[in-house]
Amino acid sequence: MEFQAKWIQTSENTGDVCPVFRKEWSGTGKIVKGELYMTALGVYEARLNGTRVSDYVLAPGWTAYEKRLQYQKYDITGLLQEKNELEVTVGRGWFSSQMPGWMMSEDRIRRAARPRGIWGEIHLHSEDGSEQVIATDDSWLWGMSEIRFSEIYDGETVDAQFVNDVWKNTAILDWPVDILIPQEGEIIREMERVSAKSVLTTPSGETVVDFGQEVTGYAEFTVDAEAGDEVRILHGEVLDQNGNFYNDNYRSAKAEISYTCRAGLQTYHPRLTFFGFRYLKLDKFPGEVKPEQFTAIVVYSDIRRTGTLRCGDPQVNQLFSNIFWGQKGNFLDVPTDCPQRDERLGWTGDAQVFAKTASYNYDVEKFFRKWLHDMAADRRADGGIGQVIPDYLPEGEPSAAWGDAAVICPWQIYLTYGSRDVLTEQFASMKKWVDYITASTTTEYLWTGGTHFGDWLGLDAPSGSYRGSSREDFIATAFYAHSTELVIKAGKVIGEDVTRYEALYENIVKTFRKTFPVYTTQTEHVLAAHFGLAENPQKTADDLAAMVERDGSRIMTGFVGTPYILHVLSEYGHTDLAYTLFLRRAYPSWLFSVEQGATTIWEHWDGIMENGEFWSTDMNSFNHYAYGSVADWVYEKAAGICLPEDAPGFTRVKIQPMPDKRLGWLEASIDTRNGKISSRWTYIGDRVRYEITTEVPAVIVIDGSETAVEAGTYTFWGRNTSLL
Ligand code: BGC
Repeated sequence: MEFQAKWIQTSENTGDVCPVFRKEWSGTGKIVKGELYMTALGVYEARLNGTRVSDYVLAPGWTAYEKRLQYQKYDITGLLQEKNELEVTVGRGWFSSQMPGWMMSEDRIRRAARPRGIWGEIHLHSEDGSEQVIATDDSWLWGMSEIRFSEIYDGETVDAQFVNDVWKNTAILDWPVDILIPQEGEIIREMERVSAKSVLTTPSGETVVDFGQEVTGYAEFTVDAEAGDEVRILHGEVLDQNGNFYNDNYRSAKAEISYTCRAGLQTYHPRLTFFGFRYLKLDKFPGEVKPEQFTAIVVYSDIRRTGTLRCGDPQVNQLFSNIFWGQKGNFLDVPTDCPQRDERLGWTGDAQVFAKTASYNYDVEKFFRKWLHDMAADRRADGGIGQVIPDYLPEGEPSAAWGDAAVICPWQIYLTYGSRDVLTEQFASMKKWVDYITASTTTEYLWTGGTHFGDWLGLDAPSGSYRGSSREDFIATAFYAHSTELVIKAGKVIGEDVTRYEALYENIVKTFRKTFPVYTTQTEHVLAAHFGLAENPQKTADDLAAMVERDGSRIMTGFVGTPYILHVLSEYGHTDLAYTLFLRRAYPSWLFSVEQGATTIWEHWDGIMENGEFWSTDMNSFNHYAYGSVADWVYEKAAGICLPEDAPGFTRVKIQPMPDKRLGWLEASIDTRNGKISSRWTYIGDRVRYEITTEVPAVIVIDGSETAVEAGTYTFWGRNTSLL
């Protein structure tokens, strides 16, 4: 499509105040259709004749802005009148906020100084077939808005009494237009509303609103006020051990709403930013406070729910709920580590760890494909992939298990949805990542050297370290092998020559085996078995099981080992131990946080420790989806819905449930591209009843015996396979 529009900006610096851009026009002839194309440097909200043009919030979303910036197209036919006024308010958004918040860098300073501006066209189609185009140019006007400040980490300041009456001409902004692309990702929407559960007065006398659920989005409040009354709201995820408001873990992110009231009854929610929160501290709020005055508006990408998990244990059900909420809270256009503190970045390692679970829980094909395009756009000249995408940490060195997202995520999206296009689009990045390792290692066929995050947050870390005890070279080489293997598989799917990678893979495996004859940690065992590197995977899994038992039947793994440990145990005959870890309530375990009242997945196994104190204030998120990746073990092993690699998109399925009496019953379903598959098992005395419904051909494996079936519903009785 050919556009005429130019980028425009305010003619004066508005400082912190969000500008409004404005265009007026009168109807010419009978308009049968109106379309608006719009985007901004920042985030924008467009209103035509006072009404929002769409329910898209935080448009234009977050991409690798210097290379790719989405524009949106809206049908505005229904909003057109004889006289029209379009107003577009622009906040800093991800474009020029001070991100990342915990460190200063030249790149951050450069980005934070980027201008705010808009680009757009109004297309008016008349009855007689003619088309009138009103494009952004310096005839558009700008003024100040009532939003006096808006930023991703710090929140929003609003003066509801402010009325702008000075309009000035805009100026043309010299900014590239060849970076513009049509909307590619899912639309970001207000997806759910959660009513406040209670209003508390804490021991230290604060007034705190509790939504009973940690969410990402913003709070809406209603207040009957005098003109000039002040509202000041702070956000928090948890209360401290004394029951007082707490948000030191947001670090430098102020996460604050400041609002000056006009007279009378009014309802407000922030418009150009978002927060991660369960609690609101009402630092200033006029009048008596009731829960009915507050609603949490949950904002995330409009992804379709495809997975369900339910079982007989209320705490495990709460864990499932936390996993889904963790995904909703961190799938706001980019897969983020967390939604609250001064990060909220597209950490590649976290996304890689969670990609499989994410793709069963929701249809995330479009979401990931957009993000992977940004990854390819931000790929470094040497093929390295940054720690976060969009790459707001360009000075950070690529790390093993983080950069591997370039290979693992496309492969998973291909497997879950069966789309070869994602492999075609990403194959260059996949290969270049492996080539990057080959070129940057200090030892051929291993990955030595470089800076890595290791088994991030592994509990076996030496005191003071976040990186676990697994050897960095071991992890890096294991992922080097794994990514090379996936490049080979992907290349074969799309018909590329992968001979060079086949030879490389053989050499990596040979060298790995020679260099690492023994495995020293849980995670090392897990990687060796799961990535097919161990010469004797059964012995490796048996040794892992023995090591876990020696460790007191406790998980010691971090970000790297945790996603696979239960898979390895189940695949090699230790399902019982997998359940022991899964159902453990004491620290460290998935259910420990549930016992502590978590409503989302925590960054640390003990974000709140057994003694009620916090793990730390400097790195302690209560909404970090990574450990929620245990859900893919529940779908694939516990419920047994296995996706054969030669049936991408679930054209066929193998269903091999692994029940355990301690759980009572379990039901899982995935609404796949090819039909819905659900698996349920229930203990009835010492026998197990299986109910399987599949819309795709399946092989059902119960107690070791296989039955091939067409689509349909099937019931089986099996013996008690659990040891209890
Ligand atoms: C983030 C993580 C991330 C890690 C990398 C943290 O600050 O929150 O989730 O993967 O840094 O080391």
